[in-house]
Amino acid sequence: MVALTEMVALEQRGDIALILVDNPPVNALSHGVRLGLLKGFEQVAADDSVKGVVLACRGRTFIAGADITEFGKPAKTPGLEEPQVAMENCPKPVVAAIHGTALGGGLEIAMCAHYRVGAPAARYGQPEVKLGLIPGAGGTQRLPRVTGVAKALEMCAIGDPIGSEEALATGLIDKIIEGDLIDGAVAYAEELVAAAAPLKKIRDRDEKIDEARADRSVFDAFRKRIARKTRNFEAPAKNVDLIEATLDVSFDEGIKQEQAAFQTLMAGRQSEAQRYYFFSEREAAKVPDIPRETPLRDVKSVGILGAGTMGGGIAMNFLNAGIPVKIVERDKDALDRGIDVVRKNYQRSAKSGRFTMEQVEERMSLLEPGTDKSVFGEVDMVIEAVFELMPLKKTIFAELDGIAREGAILATNTSALNVNEIAAVTKRPEDVIGTHFFSPANVMKLLEIVRAEKTAPDVLATTLKVAKAIGKVPAVVGVAPGFVGNRMLAQRGIEAETMIMEGAPPAQVDSVLYGFGMPMGPFAMSDLAGLDVGWDPDNTSSRTIREALCESGRRGQKNGRGYYTYDPETRAPTPDPEVLEIIRGFAEKRGVAHRDDITDEEILDRCLLPMVNMGAKILEEGKAMRSSDIDVVWVNGYGWPVYEGGPMFWAEGQGLDTVAAKITAYGAKLGGEHWELSPLIEKLASEGKSFQELEPQAIR
Ligand code: 3HC
Ligand code: NAI
Repeated sequence: MVALTEMVALEQRGDIALILVDNPPVNALSHGVRLGLLKGFEQVAADDSVKGVVLACRGRTFIAGADITEFGKPAKTPGLEEPQVAMENCPKPVVAAIHGTALGGGLEIAMCAHYRVGAPAARYGQPEVKLGLIPGAGGTQRLPRVTGVAKALEMCAIGDPIGSEEALATGLIDKIIEGDLIDGAVAYAEELVAAAAPLKKIRDRDEKIDEARADRSVFDAFRKRIARKTRNFEAPAKNVDLIEATLDVSFDEGIKQEQAAFQTLMAGRQSEAQRYYFFSEREAAKVPDIPRETPLRDVKSVGILGAGTMGGGIAMNFLNAGIPVKIVERDKDALDRGIDVVRKNYQRSAKSGRFTMEQVEERMSLLEPGTDKSVFGEVDMVIEAVFELMPLKKTIFAELDGIAREGAILATNTSALNVNEIAAVTKRPEDVIGTHFFSPANVMKLLEIVRAEKTAPDVLATTLKVAKAIGKVPAVVGVAPGFVGNRMLAQRGIEAETMIMEGAPPAQVDSVLYGFGMPMGPFAMSDLAGLDVGWDPDNTSSRTIREALCESGRRGQKNGRGYYTYDPETRAPTPDPEVLEIIRGFAEKRGVAHRDDITDEEILDRCLLPMVNMGAKILEEGKAMRSSDIDVVWVNGYGWPVYEGGPMFWAEGQGLDTVAAKITAYGAKLGGEHWELSPLIEKLASEGKSFQELEPQAIR
C-alpha cells in the first residue's frame, strides 16, 4: 500500500491496481482526494504491471460529493476535471466500486470509470439541486447518456437518489456485488481484462440521446410536472435546460455550458442560502454544552397518551421506524376513533403506492392500543398529547411519575404551556422534556425539542437521537410561550391583521407572502385551519376580525367561506367583497384610518421584520442556541423557502443595519412591543456583524 496523499492510497492485487479513498466522514472530494486520484490514475496508466483498476472508498460510503466546505473559497488545482480526464482516458479498464452513497461529484467521478459495480444497498444521486446547484463535473451531460433523459431529469432536477436495482436496470451500474465489494470488484476487473473488454466512455455514448431526439415533449412535460414544487427556484430549471442541451450540442460544448451555469449558480444568493441551510440542519443537532460522546439512554419502545390529531400522527413516526408504540386514550370510543384515523392514513399511503398493504399491516401490528396507562411502566419514553390544559397535564405527569420506570423519558407535546411547570409536578424533572411536533405530525419534518430548566443532558441527547431515528429535523428550544416558531408567527399575525384593517385586502397580503415563497399567506392559512378554532359561539362579541367573520357564518375552508369564498368543486379561493365590508366595518369601529397606498414592499417588511426582531429577542433570552436553529424551525415547520435560508439569514442578506433602521422607523409610526428594536440587532448592526458570527450558546 502506497499513500498518494493523506487521503488516497494505492495498492496492487495481482494485475489489478486498487485506488482507495479515505477521507472521513463521507469521502468528500477535498483537495487531497482530487490530487490523490490524479496521481493514482497517472501512475497506473504508466505502470505496465497494472492491467486493470478498481476505485473504491474506505469507511461508510463511496464519495458523497464535492467538499461543500470548500465552496465559495478560492479554487485549488487540480479541480475535478483533471482526475476525471485521467480516469476516463486510462488505457486499462477502470471499475468504480460503490457502497453507501455515490452523490454529486462522487457519481460524476464514478461515471468516468469504464464500468461500475455497486453493493446491494448503495445509493446513487445528483443532489446538487438541493444545494441550489447543478452537477458541475459532467453530471448533466453524462447521466442522460447512460440512464436516458427521463431518469436523468428526475435525478438532477429533483435530486433524489436511486438504489442499486434501479441503477442496474437503467444501466448506471453494470453489476450488483453481493458479499465483499472490493474483492468482487477486483474479480470483475480481472474478468474484463481477460475478455479484453472495451473501455466504455459514457461521453461517447449517444444512443439514448438519439432516442430522446425522437420525442422532445418529455422536457416540457417534465417542466410542467415540477413547476409548482420548484416555484421561484433557479437550479431545477437550469438542470432541465442542460440535460436538454445534450440533444443539440456536442459533449464538450455541453460541459462548457454546464461549467458556466454551475459558476453562476454557485455565486448566487439561492445556492448560498441552500448551502447555509444544509449545514444549519446538521448544526442544529449539536448542543454546545453536551459532549458528542454523552452516553445515551435506550429508546426501543414508546408510549403515547392521547390518540387525537397529534397523538395518532406522532405514533405513525415511530411505527414507520419500526419502534413499537403503546397508545392510550381515556375511553374506548376515543381510542377507536384515533386508531381508525391512523389506519386510514396508512391505507391512503398504500393506495398512492407509497406502502404495500403488507407494510401497512406490519406497522399496525407494532401499535398496541389501550385505555390503561399502567402499560407505560414497560416503555422507554412516554409522549403526552392530551388537551392543552395545564391542570390536566399536571395531573397526568404526576400519574406518569408513579407509573414510568426509572430512566424513562417523559415528554410533553404541549404547544405553548410551561414545560418547567409540568416537570415540577414529578419527582424526576430531569427526565422531563418537550417534544413539540407540528401538524400533521406524520408529515411535518420539524421537531422543536424543549429543553426545560432541569432536563438532564442525556435526556436531551437521547431525544435528539430519537428525532433522527424517526426522520425528524430537530431544533432545540427553551421554555417560552409558543417556543420559537409560533412565537415568531404571532408577530407576523399582528401586522397582517393590522394591515388588512388599514385597507390591504387579505388577498394582497397573502399573495405577497406566496410570491416570496411561503406555501400560503396568513389568511389562506387561517381558512385552512378553520376560523372557528377556539371560537365560542355563546360568548362572541366581535373582538377580532376572525370572530366577526365567524359571526357572519364564515368558518374557513370547511364551510366554503372564510377570508375567501371557495369553489365547492375545485376549492379554488376567490376574494369576497363581503369580507372586505366586514373588515372595513371592524376597522371603523376601532378608529383605524383607511389607506389605499399599502405597497407589496411594505407588506413584506411588516410581516417579516417583526419576526426577525422576535428571533433576535429569542436569542437574547437564550431560548435558542443559534440563529441558524431558528431558520431550521422556519424552513421545516412553516415552509419558509429554503432559497431564502430562513428569516435570520434573510435579515442578514438585507443588512442588519437596514433591518434596524426599518424596525425603528416602523416602530415610531406604528408602535407596539413587537416593533421595539432588539438590542442584539442594534448591537450587531452597529458593529457590522451578523447573527452567524455569534457563538452557539446554551439554552437558559
Ligand atoms: N462536503 C463536506 N461535508 C459534508 C458533505 C460534503 N459533500 N456531506 C456531508 N458532509 C459532512 C456533514 O456536514 C456532517 O458533518 P458533521 O458531522 O460535522 O456535522 C458529516 O459529513 C456527516 O453528514 P450527515 O450528518 O449528513 O451524515 P449522514 O450519514 O446522515 O448522511 C450523506 C450522509 C447522505 C452523504 C449526507 O451527508 C449528504 O447528503 N451529503 C451531501 C451530499 C451532496 O449534496 N453532495 C453533492 C455535493 S455538491 C457536488 O458534488 C458538486 C459537484 O457536482 C461538482
Ligand atoms: P386533540 O383534541 O385532537 O387530541 C387530544 C386527545 O387526548 C383526545 O383524543 C382526548 O380524548 C385525549 N385525552 C384527553 N384527556 C385524556 C386523558 N386524561 N387520558 C387519555 N387521553 C386523553 O388534540 P391535539 O390537537 O392532538 O393536541 C394534543 C396536544 O398537542 C395539545 O397539547 C396541543 O397543544 C398539542 N399540539 C397540537 C397541535 C395541532 O396542530 N393540533 C400542534 C402541536 C402541538
